[in-house]
Amino acid sequence: LRQQTPVRYDSVRNCWDVFSYGEVQRILKDPKTFSSVRGAAGGQNLLFIDPPKHKQLRDLVNKAFTPKAIQGLVPRIEEISADLLDGVDGVDMNLVSDFATPLPVIVIAELLGTPAEDRAHFKHWSDILVESAEDESAEAYEAIMRKRMEAMQELAQYFGQLIKVRSRIPKDDLISALLAAKIDGVQLTEHEVISFCVLLLAAGNETTTNLIANGMRVLCEQPELQDELNRSPELIPGFIEETLRYYPPIIAIGRTATMDVELGSQRFKTGDQIIAWVGAANRDESVFAAPDRFDPRRMPNPHMSFGFGIHFCLGAPLARLEGKIALQMLTNRFDQFQLPDGNDLVPIRSSFVFGVKEYPI
Ligand code: HEM
Repeated sequence: LRQQTPVRYDSVRNCWDVFSYGEVQRILKDPKTFSSVRGAAGGQNLLFIDPPKHKQLRDLVNKAFTPKAIQGLVPRIEEISADLLDGVDGVDMNLVSDFATPLPVIVIAELLGTPAEDRAHFKHWSDILVESAEDESAEAYEAIMRKRMEAMQELAQYFGQLIKVRSRIPKDDLISALLAAKIDGVQLTEHEVISFCVLLLAAGNETTTNLIANGMRVLCEQPELQDELNRSPELIPGFIEETLRYYPPIIAIGRTATMDVELGSQRFKTGDQIIAWVGAANRDESVFAAPDRFDPRRMPNPHMSFGFGIHFCLGAPLARLEGKIALQMLTNRFDQFQLPDGNDLVPIRSSFVFGVKEYPI
């Protein structure tokens, strides 16, 4: 599709598909022409707002997510990973449910300062937020949108209560920091804090789970890479970057045209919906030599799996760190991984998430 129709109209879903690297990047770096604002379902969170409001909000939350701030989490992430792996016997394990799912959920829950006993709810809510319709019918679409709205409301209620508690008695956690943060004397509203908490759960959990599971998928599909990582553990950061490029946890990013514009010899009209397929851009041979080859030494590796431009993933340093620690722990503890015979991985049903539901290894 990228070679034959780098930009094409999808008349079934009434939107433009953009597949080539240059065009995807052009969309992501021009928020004036390609807006992130969504309807009511999107809400008012960082992901779905444009400048100038976007910069104000992003500056407020940025501090908690700088590589330096995230580096301080290393001992705790290692401890959580080790505890999770202590809990499995190492012969039969379900990578997704035993390890790759709880790890990011616990990390985000602890960052926000939510009580430990609420974690199972988080997993449930974040699953619903990324789930796709069972089929392409209008009924299935409406059903999934209803479920999503319900989950958003439940999450908003949950955080609303927690915020009231933290406003009275602040703790050393992200929610208390967000409530106290000010730029030019302006504070976040309670609604903005709630939206941000919901966004972190929706944006940070399943994506990181899939990064870990997709990396392990590569190791099972190309076992020679297991030996290579065992011999040269310093390759792990490059391995994580290449996993992001090769099997991106988010394969597509949506935008709306704010004006009539030409892109890739096609004319978009104001209001047109656009899907920027980063999964396709990451394999564009005009940017990546031998794009279908997995190469942990690929340098540079300008994949767009964390987006590009002003909405570049806020959680990228955290996701990279969790991915690195997860892979280090798994390869340290186990000499060899393989999928049991006859076990096909079941993909997650989603039009924008790439990962597997279950992963017995
Ligand atoms: C934005 C991917 C992990 C929080 C994004 C975007 C992508 C992305 C593609 C840009 C979306 C757009 O342009 O519309 C990923 C992937 C992850 C990951 C692949 C894991 C491998 C995380 C984590 C967190 C997080 C761990 C936080 C704990 C966010 C936030 C935004 C964002 C808050 C919005 C930034 C903005 O609009 O300024 N992410 N993400 N993400 N991500 Fe991530």
